[in-house]
Amino acid sequence: MTAGLELKSVGVWIDANPILRQVDLSVAQGECVALLGPSGCGKTTTLRTVAGFIQPQEGEVFIAGKPANGLPPNMRNVGLVFQDYALFPHMTIGENVSYGLRMRRVPKDEASRRVDEALDMVQLHAVRDRYPANLSGGQRQRVALARALVIRPDILLLDEPLGALDRKLRDRMQVELRQLQRHLGITTIIVTHDQEEALSLADRVAVMFEGSIREIGAPAALYERPSSREVMDFLGISNWLPADIIGTREDGRVLAQTAGIQIALPRSATVTGARVDLGLRPEYLRFVALDETGDCLVDASIVECVYKGGLVEVHVRLQNGQRLIARSGLSEVTTYGLDRLGENVRLRIDPDRLQVFSAS
Ligand SMILES: Nc1ncnc2c1ncn2[C@@H]1O[C@H](COP(=O)(O)OP(=O)(O)O)[C@@H](O)[C@H]1O
Ligand SMILES: [Mg+2]
Repeated sequence: MTAGLELKSVGVWIDANPILRQVDLSVAQGECVALLGPSGCGKTTTLRTVAGFIQPQEGEVFIAGKPANGLPPNMRNVGLVFQDYALFPHMTIGENVSYGLRMRRVPKDEASRRVDEALDMVQLHAVRDRYPANLSGGQRQRVALARALVIRPDILLLDEPLGALDRKLRDRMQVELRQLQRHLGITTIIVTHDQEEALSLADRVAVMFEGSIREIGAPAALYERPSSREVMDFLGISNWLPADIIGTREDGRVLAQTAGIQIALPRSATVTGARVDLGLRPEYLRFVALDETGDCLVDASIVECVYKGGLVEVHVRLQNGQRLIARSGLSEVTTYGLDRLGENVRLRIDPDRLQVFSAS
């Protein structure tokens, strides 16, 4: 099957500065991929290269299987939505949406039908004759989406499309966007610096640093089993435990010593050298009773308890001074006294959830 989009070793320089380096990306037909990375890492440049506003100095771009190098934007069948949706203020919503069809000289009757269809997709039929100024931010963003979809693009490119909306509307639009994208089966690249948005919207997430894609994978795999320290550190919260390798257990699992305890590392871990860094997500650090016994228990005191809606993020200090962050349910706050600063607590590290990396 032809890919919806393929970038092969794409390199872009601006004024002799490398902006994209060897970017390889293959997006399946109908797939939604999020580009996630810190500001300035090259996400927008990647999208602009796909759209044809930038011609790469190196590498190749294929859209829906067809070579796109050298083609100007209007010769690529690409739908674009940006954060500042830039609707034409003096045109009605209907005229805004039909703009791309007029440019493509689609006959009037058909254009009108397709505008209706596109406005239906974003549930905005009722505002066809209004002007952008009379719409809410969320509605304007849906118009921008309709305008991109009306040309029936081979690929939809979204650059921080929900960035200007408030949190609640943004959450709702994320769900709507995802449903529409699935329903239409349109190949989509969404750029965001919002991790939650990337992880919840996309089939796969590509993490970009300094002009290259460092890792690409399904959201859960990327979060749970990142292939590098940097990606683990970048996504969500990570606890880092420096550990010494002290031997091998009878069952073949490697034994490590950290924070005064011994831990058997996961079987899947590849260990080279005498020291490793263990990465642990806060979900896999659980509070237990102070008289709990067994493996992988550490004692700590409460430093901070931060309410995060239905959860708390609890910062603790181990006896060796190291700080860790655990994530817990609200009911555990009273059970273990998590909101009492200085309170002594005991936690269990889930050894099978440790990510093992060579010591830095
Ligand atoms: N027109 C330009 N001229 C010079 N530098 C640019 C231009 N466009 C982007 N850059 C630089 O390229 C890098 C990547 O930018 P961009 O793709 O916009 O990043 P992102 O969208 O990930 O925040 C940044 O360092 C930015 O300063
Ligand atoms: Mg950008």
